[in-house]
Amino acid sequence: MTIRIQIAAGGAGEVRAETLIIPIARRGETPQRLPQGLGALDRRFGGRLSDALAPGDFAAGREDRLVIYGPKGGDLVRCILLGVGEADKIDDSVLRLLGGRVGRETGQENAGRVALVIPPGAGFGAERSAPRLAEGALLGAYQFDRYKTGRKQKKSKTRASLQLVYVRKVPSITRLRADLREAVQVTESQLLARDLSNEPPNSLYPETLARECRRMARSVGLRCRVMAVPELERRGFGAILAVGQGSVHPPRMIVLEHGATPKRKKAGTLALVGKGITFDSGGLSLKTASGMLEMKHDMSGAATVFGAMRAIALLDLPIHVVGVIAAAENMPSGTAYRPSDIIETASGQTVEIVNTDAEGRLVLADALHHATESFAPDAMIDVATLTGAAMMAFGRWATAGLGNDDDLLDELRAAGERTGETIWPMPLLDAHEKAMRSKVADWKNAGGRDAGISTAGAFLRGFVGETPWVHLDIAGTGMTATRTPLHCGGGTGVGVRMLTDWVRSRCA
Ligand code: BES
Ligand code: MN
Ligand code: ZN
Repeated sequence: MTIRIQIAAGGAGEVRAETLIIPIARRGETPQRLPQGLGALDRRFGGRLSDALAPGDFAAGREDRLVIYGPKGGDLVRCILLGVGEADKIDDSVLRLLGGRVGRETGQENAGRVALVIPPGAGFGAERSAPRLAEGALLGAYQFDRYKTGRKQKKSKTRASLQLVYVRKVPSITRLRADLREAVQVTESQLLARDLSNEPPNSLYPETLARECRRMARSVGLRCRVMAVPELERRGFGAILAVGQGSVHPPRMIVLEHGATPKRKKAGTLALVGKGITFDSGGLSLKTASGMLEMKHDMSGAATVFGAMRAIALLDLPIHVVGVIAAAENMPSGTAYRPSDIIETASGQTVEIVNTDAEGRLVLADALHHATESFAPDAMIDVATLTGAAMMAFGRWATAGLGNDDDLLDELRAAGERTGETIWPMPLLDAHEKAMRSKVADWKNAGGRDAGISTAGAFLRGFVGETPWVHLDIAGTGMTATRTPLHCGGGTGVGVRMLTDWVRSRCA
């Protein structure tokens, strides 16, 4: 289901909708009152809105919700009061969460047209709140239901409508509409990343992931080049080939490119690299049944790069950006790569395989090397569901970040703070690299249980050369079983907003 979001300003008296939503902020212990400027609306409800708040039962906490039905025969069917907590604590993340709850309400079968009436006052300034509310609404309404037959499917075809109604006049509605449009473009790209991540592995494998990339690239004007096995062989991409060799679905290296013009290149070249394991069984170092359950999401890094590249193209950011996606399926079979195999990566460095379940760093080794050699980027970010250790350390609350350039990591952390996607730094020491050295090859692909995020990072560092680089481990944040106002469980699309924001910050 998609939501069409529109914006209006200058008074709520005339609103046409079946469902009204009014956010109510709390000011200390005093009983809540209907925000100013809503008198005309209250009269259309026969005074029931102010009546409902008068006894003081409604505490306006962030989970509080109160439905008030309109007078019989009136055009306003219901009004939903949503608590937003303390008035002076309304920040971007509170606005986004509120948007998420509004999105859920908008998606309800009976909701009809929905109008969110935004009262004047601190925290709800239009420039600041409209893009965040829109983001939240789209994220909150998202569902992955394309495989549900019957009733649900019919409903998902309908287009819900949400109007953001600012009670007070806003300085420039044109400007506001442009900001809203950009927020919608970025957030819809995040939803497409969720779709990719959620797609089952019998439908999404390297070849079909490449097809999706081509289709998306054509629709937004990106360049797209896909390397199939013969080219991977010719180029000596031995790592991604080894990981993919046990599957009936051969691997692909996918390159998306935005702004490949001399003028854009002058502003710089950035590379985004994504782990695209379309299913991670562990290979011959087989995972347990429960450990395998969420492994269709093991291409979430690729999904993030896909979404970010789409958003960057739609915003037409004035800089050259390359997206590299390393797509493979990690399966056990008679042709699968084995523990003890020694493979040669695209960089020429050799790796002793000690665990076929440490496959992500292998496909990334070839992808990072390719991005570095072919595009000489000024900065490179990789995004990957790389280690169970990142999930254990940070859960769904933070993405682990490390790299070879502290300033670059700071830039990404700042972008994540702006978009509500927390990145937490982890160490990358020379000692970690030592744990990844093999007796019989240049590297081994796993360094034991200790410091899993950092040892994986040390391995990746060996394939980026001198390029300023940051690795983001989204094993915890890229997928979640937990339902929140902003997601329904499954792939989250984490990083799409953050990377887009970071690339934008690089254009200045
Ligand atoms: N895709 C997994 C990491 C993962 C685990 C992501 C759980 C999300 C949830 C990765 O390929 C993997 O299997 N990593 C191993 C590496 C180990 C063998 C060195 C891990 O973390 O256990
Ligand atoms: Mn694995
Ligand atoms: Zn994996």
